[in-house]
Amino acid sequence: MSNDISFFFNGEKFTGAKGQSIAAALIANEQRELRRTRFGEEPRSIFCGIGICFDCVVTIDGVANQRACLIEISSDMNVESSL
Ligand code: FES
Repeated sequence: MSNDISFFFNGEKFTGAKGQSIAAALIANEQRELRRTRFGEEPRSIFCGIGICFDCVVTIDGVANQRACLIEISSDMNVESSL
């Protein structure tokens, strides 16, 4: 049985492993820019990795402001960069 899970990030299909956080799966797929800041549009990625800094917020299946480092990837999950 495979541990691979398919998910989408900004419309592109990627593969993660069962048990990975969204953040870990994105980094493993070389997707380092998860969002841009409201002021200045500076790119943000994983910083703390433990749910403290909120640098990793993304929209997951239409629900905004979710921390990618705290949520486990699941099959066909649709992840989008936050504005
Ligand atoms: S990386 Fe800091 S909250 Fe997710």
